[in-house]
Amino acid sequence: MSMRKLYMVKLGGSLITDKRKPYTPRVEVIKRLVKEIRDSLSTSHRVIIGHGGGSFPHVSASKYETHKGFVNRESKYGMAVVHYDASRLNMIVMEELLKNGVQAFPIQPSSISLAEDSRIVEMYIKPLKTLLEYDMVPVVYGDVGIDLKQGCCIMSTEEIFRFLSLSLKDEYSIRIIMCEEVDGIYTKDPFKHPDAEFIEVVSRENIDIVMEYLSSSHGIDVTGGMKHKVEVLYGLAKEGIETLIINGLAEGRLEKALKEKPVKGTLIRY
Ligand code: IPE
Repeated sequence: MSMRKLYMVKLGGSLITDKRKPYTPRVEVIKRLVKEIRDSLSTSHRVIIGHGGGSFPHVSASKYETHKGFVNRESKYGMAVVHYDASRLNMIVMEELLKNGVQAFPIQPSSISLAEDSRIVEMYIKPLKTLLEYDMVPVVYGDVGIDLKQGCCIMSTEEIFRFLSLSLKDEYSIRIIMCEEVDGIYTKDPFKHPDAEFIEVVSRENIDIVMEYLSSSHGIDVTGGMKHKVEVLYGLAKEGIETLIINGLAEGRLEKALKEKPVKGTLIRY
C-alpha cells in the first residue's frame, strides 16, 4: 500500500511580515498564499502549515536574547513576551485561513515540546496526528521553547518540521515546501549581488560549497537565516525527506508546487 502524501508548508517570517517594520503583517501576501493552499487542498493528501515569526517575535527575541536562554533577570519575562508576539502573528494567519474556509487548527509548539540547547527532544504530537486523520490542517509556528539546558530557546519552524517529519515519516510520504521571498538558493545574496547564480539542486555534490556561500547571516534573524534552514533541511534529505524552496511572492508558485507541477525553486535532496 502506498503511503499518503503529506506536505509541510512553511510561510517564511520575512515573507508574511515586513521585517523592517516591527509588528507589521503583509496581509495581502498572507491572503494570497492562503488561497493558493486552499485551492490545492484534496482528500488525497494532507497538509501541515508552519509559519515563521518575522517582525513579530524577532524584535522581542533579539531584545531579550531569547535564543541564548536565561541570561539575565529579564529573560523569563522576555520569554513570555516572545511567545505572545509569535502567537499574535499566528492569530492573523489563522484569521485568513478561517475566512477562506480552511479547516485549520493551531497547535502551539511551545506548550507541547521540550528542547535541549534549542533542539526539540520531546513533543506531544498525538493531537496533531489526530487532526491529520480528521483531514484537518494543523498550523504550527516558530515559537519560543522551554529548554531543559538553557531555560528558554527559539524553536524555528524548521526545527519543528524536523521533529515532526521524523516522527511522521513512517506513516506519510513527506515533502517540505518552504516559501521565502527569494526564488531559492543563490551563490551569493541576490539582493546585494546582481551576479549571484541560482542553484536548482542542493545535494551531497554541492552541500559544502553551498554552506560556505550561506555563512553570512543577516540582520535581526535570531535563528541564523538561510544557513540554519539549509543545515536542518539537508539533514532531513539524508533521511529521505526532500524540500523545495520557492518564492512565495511569485503568484501561483505555491499552488503549482502543491499540485506537483513544475515550478522554479531549489530542491534539497541527498
Ligand atoms: C522564529 O521562527 C520564531 C521566533 C523568533 C520566536 P522562524 O525561524 O521559523 O521564523 P522566520 O521565518 O525566521 O521569521
